[in-house]
Amino acid sequence: MTSRQSPLAGKHVVLGICGGIAAYKSVSLLRLLVKAGAEVQVVITPAGKEFITPVTLSALSQKPVVSEFFTANTGEWHSHVDLGLWADCMVIAPATASTIGKMAHGVADNMLVTTYLSAKSHVFVAPAMDLDMMAHPSTTANLALLRSYGNTVIEPDTGYLASGLTGKGRMEEPENIVRVLEDYFAKSQTLVGKKVLVTAGPTFERIDPVRFIGNYSSGKMGYALAEEFAARGAEVILVSGPVSVTASSPAIRLVRVESAREMLAECEAVFSGCDVAVMCAAVADYAPAVTSDRKIKREHSEVPVIQLVKNPDIAATLGAAKRPGQFLAGFALETDHEAENAAEKLSRKNLDMIVLNSMRDAGAGFGTDTNKVTIIDAGGSHEYPLRPKREVASDIIDYIETRL
Ligand code: C5P
Repeated sequence: MTSRQSPLAGKHVVLGICGGIAAYKSVSLLRLLVKAGAEVQVVITPAGKEFITPVTLSALSQKPVVSEFFTANTGEWHSHVDLGLWADCMVIAPATASTIGKMAHGVADNMLVTTYLSAKSHVFVAPAMDLDMMAHPSTTANLALLRSYGNTVIEPDTGYLASGLTGKGRMEEPENIVRVLEDYFAKSQTLVGKKVLVTAGPTFERIDPVRFIGNYSSGKMGYALAEEFAARGAEVILVSGPVSVTASSPAIRLVRVESAREMLAECEAVFSGCDVAVMCAAVADYAPAVTSDRKIKREHSEVPVIQLVKNPDIAATLGAAKRPGQFLAGFALETDHEAENAAEKLSRKNLDMIVLNSMRDAGAGFGTDTNKVTIIDAGGSHEYPLRPKREVASDIIDYIETRL
């Protein structure tokens, strides 16, 4: 592929290099990235410099290599925040067990890890280590954490290792890493110009200033969808109930709400201008009929009775207002009669597609970092395996793209 044809052309890539034998392969990787037309900034750990010299890397990338927080003789500060914003993607190759552990747990004691923590873009991690380190439960758990943050782990290959042993731990070949990045950018351009609304999280329905009716939704699935839509070039409006997860892409406009009524108002305000809307929020079905503006006291002589009223159905409201060309997707979290219930919601709410997750599947539903879904539409149903939520988001959006 020539540099003009590569989806990497003009992309800003931060290449993170750790201290492992496979660092020699980073030179080829850098060379291939530059050849594909990418602008590459190398960030190397102190141990990485023991394996490969910054001179080679800066000559190939035509940029000074960053390793320390500041340059000792000039005092020039290297801003990991600026680098994190500059990057269209970050690829850490090789990623050692030590750096993977630091990334997983936020141990920001070098420039590579601080840049990783500041990165707003997608991150690819290409591990390289001895087979026993690779197979250790600690490495497995740390890589699972990185996947749960939305990072892509480029699995190492099985073969001859620097230790003389043979097993899984060889860093993926630079050509294949470049291919993964090219696929990512080719894919990421598919939704440029599209405007997408995503709802996420629970809603809290206020009883009094300190109490509410809510549910266990963490918002992780909706936020993963918003990030994936944004990564593919869409402009995203994320209307979110109260959650602790955060959105990182600058292409996401986050609108925080508390109640179902507030969520409906924000959705109605933007829906007509959207091409796609995905209703991922776990909206409370009922709200207290009356909200007390003072804390209800326990010393009341009688147990208080909270009268409930039905909340508006946001998905159904948007479904009724939907015009031709707009695509509306919903979610269904069911405990029984899953497929029938989901199909009924699909037609009642005038959705184009519904994503079913069953509370009966381990690892699916609220709070987890993984999900197992079945997509149902007029054409039938498609089952997907248990995967990290970001990968599930990618599957869902792949499917939506086939329908647009
Ligand atoms: O009816 P049920 O709550 O199971 O439907 C789930 C789907 O409808 C989800 O897409 C959810 O976001 C949406 N919904 C909504 N407003 C409600 C209830 C559900 O948008 N009040």
